[in-house]
Amino acid sequence: MSAKIINGKNFAQKLRAHIANYVQQLKSKHNITPGLAVIIVGNDPASKLYVRNKAKQTLEAGMNSFKYELREDIKEKELIALINELNNRKDVHAILVQMPLPKHLNATNIINAIDPTKDVDMFHPLNAGKLMTGQIGPVSCTPLGCLMLLRDIHNSLTGKNALIIGRSNLVGKPMAQLLLRENCTVTIAHSKSVNLPNIAKQADIIIAAVGREKMVKANWVKEGATVIDVGINRIDAPERGEGKTLIVGDVDFDEVKEIAGAITPVPGGVGPMTIACLLANTVTTTCLINGLRPPSNFTI
Ligand code: GUN
Repeated sequence: MSAKIINGKNFAQKLRAHIANYVQQLKSKHNITPGLAVIIVGNDPASKLYVRNKAKQTLEAGMNSFKYELREDIKEKELIALINELNNRKDVHAILVQMPLPKHLNATNIINAIDPTKDVDMFHPLNAGKLMTGQIGPVSCTPLGCLMLLRDIHNSLTGKNALIIGRSNLVGKPMAQLLLRENCTVTIAHSKSVNLPNIAKQADIIIAAVGREKMVKANWVKEGATVIDVGINRIDAPERGEGKTLIVGDVDFDEVKEIAGAITPVPGGVGPMTIACLLANTVTTTCLINGLRPPSNFTI
């Protein structure tokens, strides 16, 4: 039987409509317009496209968008000076520094410079600690988006065997914390894990976040499992014309959809949820900074 295809694009669209509605209320009842500042360093075309989309959707939701495009060779001191300026601005409620950064910049120093109350990605160690100890705050955008999709598919996640493939600070580790909170039995696999296909075969839920194209195959997947594909891999597609590329996930979608119970496509699955959750997190930080309770459907 073919799997249910999880439509992240539709889900994200509905979420953005709720966010825009709430932003209007913040404006009319509290005279607050949430503001998101996005900093990008250098000229990576994929990062530039993400940042353009983030800015566009921020404005569409009725929020203020502040975009900073910095030259590739900017000094760490200069970048931290800009972050300090944004930390102190009353009209900026959320700050995002687009990753990856050029090699000469120390990402840890940059992340640590962001005011934790404005850290919309939840990269700051204080926010990572809050997630681990179950305190309210923003949750990194991609894991939050994955969890929203999982909650939509399953009435309850309690007792499910969840496998996360990938242990990044961006996705794997916060995803594990979120699924633990949902009472899943969580396994995190990584490049040194032994016999991954066998581990995967036990899982009711697989979250693939490794950045290796079509790595998860049909014979790794238990019949009826839910498969969430976080991968965004650009591959050459000469059949589409010279120099053309194609975006594929970490899951071999065509094979796995024949065995899984539900699966996210790439594109159109997790990707649109990440930006929608960035907007949701901007509302969350805005509320918390202003002593308001964030809306429960935007947080965990
Ligand atoms: N680069 C790719 N995804 C992300 C993200 O969610 N946040 C930041 N800051 N950079 C990214």
